[in-house]
Amino acid sequence: MERFDRLFIGGEWLAPVDGGLVESIDPSTGKPWAVVAMGGPKDIDAAVAAAREAFEGWRRTPGHERAAILRRFAELYRDNVEMLASLETRDNGRAIRESRMDVGGHPQTWHWFASLADKASGRTIPFDDTVHVFTTREPLGVVGAITPWNVPLMSATWKLAPALAAGCTVVLKPAEQTPVSSLALARVIEQAGFPPGVVNVVPGDGATAGAALVAHPGVAKISFTGEGETAKTILRNGADTLKRFSFELGGKAPHIIFADADVEQALNAATGSAFALCGQSCALGSRVLVERSIYERVVEEFTRRVGRVRVGPPLDPANHMGPQAHAAQLEKTMSYVGVGQDQGARLVAGGQRLQGSCFGDGYYVAPTVFADVAPEMRIAQEEIFGPVAALIPFTGEDEAVAIANGTPYGLAAGLWTQDVGRAHRVSQRIEAGIVWVNTYRFIRWSTPYGGFKSSGWGRENGLEAFDEHFETRTTVISTTGRFADPFAS
Ligand code: NAI
Ligand code: MG
Repeated sequence: MERFDRLFIGGEWLAPVDGGLVESIDPSTGKPWAVVAMGGPKDIDAAVAAAREAFEGWRRTPGHERAAILRRFAELYRDNVEMLASLETRDNGRAIRESRMDVGGHPQTWHWFASLADKASGRTIPFDDTVHVFTTREPLGVVGAITPWNVPLMSATWKLAPALAAGCTVVLKPAEQTPVSSLALARVIEQAGFPPGVVNVVPGDGATAGAALVAHPGVAKISFTGEGETAKTILRNGADTLKRFSFELGGKAPHIIFADADVEQALNAATGSAFALCGQSCALGSRVLVERSIYERVVEEFTRRVGRVRVGPPLDPANHMGPQAHAAQLEKTMSYVGVGQDQGARLVAGGQRLQGSCFGDGYYVAPTVFADVAPEMRIAQEEIFGPVAALIPFTGEDEAVAIANGTPYGLAAGLWTQDVGRAHRVSQRIEAGIVWVNTYRFIRWSTPYGGFKSSGWGRENGLEAFDEHFETRTTVISTTGRFADPFAS
């Protein structure tokens, strides 16, 4: 068994005070593979104290010096991509070919935010010649980063890079199901030469360690990715301290294919995005909306292509799809397969758990496709977070837009058409934080990412993510020094 049995607090590796050691499960076997330290509320207290102490120095470190440390870290991260990607795959079962591609892109994100560290400028605001008005920006303070199990390192990168560049310090609490890669990340942080306490990593349960971080008066902002219900709990628990929040809460992205599209390309994207990350991605194109005149052809071809998805042990680079990341998600995915059938959708591929042979007792699910899904069915409304695609026919732009916008979510959307007017018209009517036209899942460090409606608050990536880590101070300086006596007459 691998051992990751210490928490990273204040630059030191400490045994949990009121947490403990747990076994992390390899979802491809259902068996423990690592012993991991989990923190409790006292460990969170210690981490927040360390981050607060470090904040005074880090905020005053000149931006170009913070940038230099972040760049050194980005290069160390690059040297460790293979190690980090394989630990992530061991812990959450994501196919190694995907983990390598994902983790391999993170150094560029770190570099991009490093380049912003000395550019937190303010504005001068013209008024009249009696005043000089300008703004300056102050980093918020300690950021509590709470990350999910589907993409632990990506989420940590998206949260930590802008926070650290802005001059904030961080307590990272990864999900209890997948703590290992974040502790491995802490080993790289240690080598990069960040001052002690600038980054602290404390895995722990949401209800104990997570809740303690949220309620802590010393934390200025919670940056959370996960489920909407959890975000509501976090808002309630954080209300007393009036801290800042940003939320990335998943979606039910529509992938809209018009009859005038290049259907081959659309199918490449639609099948790829329905089964990426074993279906456990917020940007998943889980609803495939197809114009009626090409609907039967797309259903047939979509189903045929699903037969080519290789499911199996995730460390084998030949495999496209591994297991679900943990037992509860396996159960959730399988329960939605039942819901789809009960509500009358037509199951055209998959639908079963895969066991025995190379699957053993791992949490594998066959890639699953439902056709003839009605927009109001639960499998078209609720986030399943498994490899389950819902194919929905539509007629014309208005109906496509109505179906696309007809869920509480609004994170991402795909649109396939060769009509340039339609591309502009329809894309601007879609309620989503990112709309991809004739492409899909184009997500980069520089492109803001986040949700409309119930998909979240705020944006990750881009200048927007950096900007969310500051308070703005407006300073007004009188050029005359005169202030009239209000009681003179
Ligand atoms: P979750 O929202 O419970 O967990 C995400 C993170 O929040 C974890 O680090 C967890 O420890 C923490 N957390 C849980 N309760 C907390 C609390 N009271 N205070 C502070 N932190 C807390 O998500 P869960 O239950 O693991 O997954 C359920 C569903 O949520 C999935 O099936 C999927 O639909 C959705 N989800 C969406 C994600 C996304 O990328 N937007 C990621 C993970 C889950
Ligand atoms: Mg939960």
